[in-house]
Amino acid sequence: MLTPTLFSICSVSLFLLVQSPFKFVRADVQPFTAYPNDFVDPDYIVAGKFANTTGGAQESIISWAKSLSSSGPWSVTNKPFTAPSGDKKDYMSWAPYWWPDCSGVGNTTELTPEQIWVTCPYVGRDGQFNPDRLTIDDIGAFFNLSDAVLYNALAFAFENKSSSEYSQNIVKFVNAWFLDSETGMNPNLNYAQMNRGPNGQVGTHTGVLDLKGFVKIVSGILILRKLKCTDWTDAIDAQMIAWTQKYINWLETNHLGIDECASTNNHGSFCFNQLAALKLLVNDIPGSVNVSNTYFHGIYQGQINSTGDQPLEASRTHPYHYRNYNLAAMITNARLLKYADPTSDPWNMTTKAGTTIKDALDMTMTVDPNKSDEGYAVGEIWPNIAAIASTYGDPDGKYVAFLNKSYPEYASDGDFLWDQPLAGGSVAVSTSSNGTTLPNSTEQSGASTHKGLGVIAVAIVALVGSVAVC
Ligand SMILES: *[C@@H]1O[C@H](CO)[C@@H](O)[C@H](O)[C@H]1NC(C)=O
Ligand SMILES: *[C@@H]1O[C@H](CO)[C@@H](O)[C@H](O)[C@H]1NC(C)=O
Ligand SMILES: *[C@@H]1O[C@H](CO)[C@@H](O)[C@H](O)[C@H]1NC(C)=O
Ligand SMILES: *[C@@H]1O[C@H](CO)[C@@H](O)[C@H](O)[C@H]1NC(C)=O
Ligand SMILES: *[C@@H]1O[C@H](CO)[C@@H](O)[C@H](O)[C@H]1NC(C)=O
Ligand SMILES: *[C@@H]1O[C@H](CO)[C@@H](O)[C@H](O)[C@H]1NC(C)=O
Ligand SMILES: *[C@@H]1O[C@H](CO)[C@@H](O)[C@H](O)[C@H]1NC(C)=O
Ligand SMILES: *[C@@H]1O[C@H](CO)[C@@H](O)[C@H](O)[C@H]1NC(C)=O
Ligand SMILES: *[C@@H]1O[C@H](CO)[C@@H](O)[C@H](O)[C@H]1NC(C)=O
Ligand SMILES: *[C@@H]1O[C@H](CO)[C@@H](O)[C@H](O)[C@H]1NC(C)=O
Ligand SMILES: *[C@@H]1O[C@H](CO)[C@@H](O)[C@H](O)[C@H]1NC(C)=O
Repeated sequence: MLTPTLFSICSVSLFLLVQSPFKFVRADVQPFTAYPNDFVDPDYIVAGKFANTTGGAQESIISWAKSLSSSGPWSVTNKPFTAPSGDKKDYMSWAPYWWPDCSGVGNTTELTPEQIWVTCPYVGRDGQFNPDRLTIDDIGAFFNLSDAVLYNALAFAFENKSSSEYSQNIVKFVNAWFLDSETGMNPNLNYAQMNRGPNGQVGTHTGVLDLKGFVKIVSGILILRKLKCTDWTDAIDAQMIAWTQKYINWLETNHLGIDECASTNNHGSFCFNQLAALKLLVNDIPGSVNVSNTYFHGIYQGQINSTGDQPLEASRTHPYHYRNYNLAAMITNARLLKYADPTSDPWNMTTKAGTTIKDALDMTMTVDPNKSDEGYAVGEIWPNIAAIASTYGDPDGKYVAFLNKSYPEYASDGDFLWDQPLAGGSVAVSTSSNGTTLPNSTEQSGASTHKGLGVIAVAIVALVGSVAVC
């Protein structure tokens, strides 16, 4: 469970990153867009029957696949420091809001950073972000890896080939992060979001959230498998299954994993969808269904109240962000369950207050992000609206109208590919004369599109910041 202290630190990193978004993303180039989480149904992708309105989305996905790939491969062994285990293959991230207090350690010479980390007690400073957290960025690397695998798999699927640069990228990235004997991560999160100091040096359960992007990786791998990609060989598949089985075992037996899935807020939602996706990867379909059902019959029951609000998120320092963040997790949970058990009905599943995921979105749509000074986060709701509209339908056109007003170029967003049908109006600009190839994208790549994508990029940078610590 998160403490109020942690909540406030989430806001700090959110704030810092939002202050300078264009350090990371410029508005005049097509930026990279990431979603906090999603599961893309591999059967839909493999069928390849994309609406002729999805050309802009396909173009964005290909562009993101290329730009992400240029910064890979990633490995936990790239970081300049080693986890307290001494094993450079251990994943590691620091609790970002704790600072060393060296006043009582009686040192006679100046301590090196490494000495400070283990010698000085660490104290939480509400609202102050310790910048040295950025010296270790396994979390950012995994985040990029997750998106790279998903978008490269989609780009691969568009090509209708058995091998391409995109699938080769995925194999290279999966090998480097997971499987290579020199660079592959050990299957545990013993040092994720760890505290430092003489009594620290161990991870905290909130660190399990660091790997929530696994859902995207699983989506990508399932696509390669189903398309019989020749680069995704039986050998690499078997190795990845073996790695994942060990990691599942850690998640299900280590107290950090157990405690994280026992969280009642978004941490629990993301923990369950990570685990459900991992079970799909190891071909344990009943196990995946069980995990998702445990979520829907468990913590989901308390997550949406009778007015559609999410009290566990609404109480946070960035309530607009957190409502949308947990919405993304709930949507991902429902997609995973529906995929693993097509007879299931997660979208109609009600909480103990009698409400559904749609009710949570409808309520969130009435929230003005400016009321909590979260105007920068407005874009976080867009993919949630697209997901709900494409799943429940949009009989009175209110979802499309919202997107049309808030972000008219939504058809260029990557998830427009799989959040279909999303009918109507200028969000569904037709850009291609057929469903499988890319359009001449004049309409999609004009100045206004870049402006729109620039806006979402700001939201994304905010998301990445929150992802890192919350
Ligand atoms: C160590 O001791 C020196 C001298 O007392 C002091 O200036 C310094 O702040 C202390 N801490 C570190 C981290 O060096
Ligand atoms: C992740 O990708 C972003 C955007 O491309 C980049 O700025 C950042 O440096 C990357 N981080 C890592 C660790 O690869
Ligand atoms: C994919 O390629 C196969 C032959 O390799 C062809 O039969 C099929 O029609 C193609 N599919 C699409 C959607 O172009
Ligand atoms: C999940 O599996 C366990 C062990 O078989 C079982 O006790 C439990 O009832 C199952 N939960 C759900 C929701 O299916
Ligand atoms: C639902 O949750 C919100 C946020 O905590 C709260 O303001 C509202 O009163 C709750 N509604 C009900 C009916 O409990
Ligand atoms: C929120 O504030 C921004 C600028 O501060 C403004 O552009 C936007 O229209 C506001 N949104 C709402 C819903 O009032
Ligand atoms: C909800 O249940 C109804 C009745 O079974 C079904 O027609 C509908 O498709 C379900 N909604 C979703 C979003 O799956
Ligand atoms: C989208 O907005 C434009 C005006 O900006 C309007 O002409 C169009 O009817 C709207 N479409 C929908 C589906 O709301
Ligand atoms: C796209 O498909 C729709 C029917 O699904 C058709 O009415 C429309 O003309 C098509 N647009 C283009 C540009 O081919
Ligand atoms: C789709 O249209 C493009 C040109 O826009 C063309 O090159 C391609 O062959 C077409 N594909 C199919 C399957 O018709
Ligand atoms: C796309 O269409 C526009 C206007 O019709 C044209 O000027 C441009 O050259 C075309 N671009 C490509 C790559 O075909």
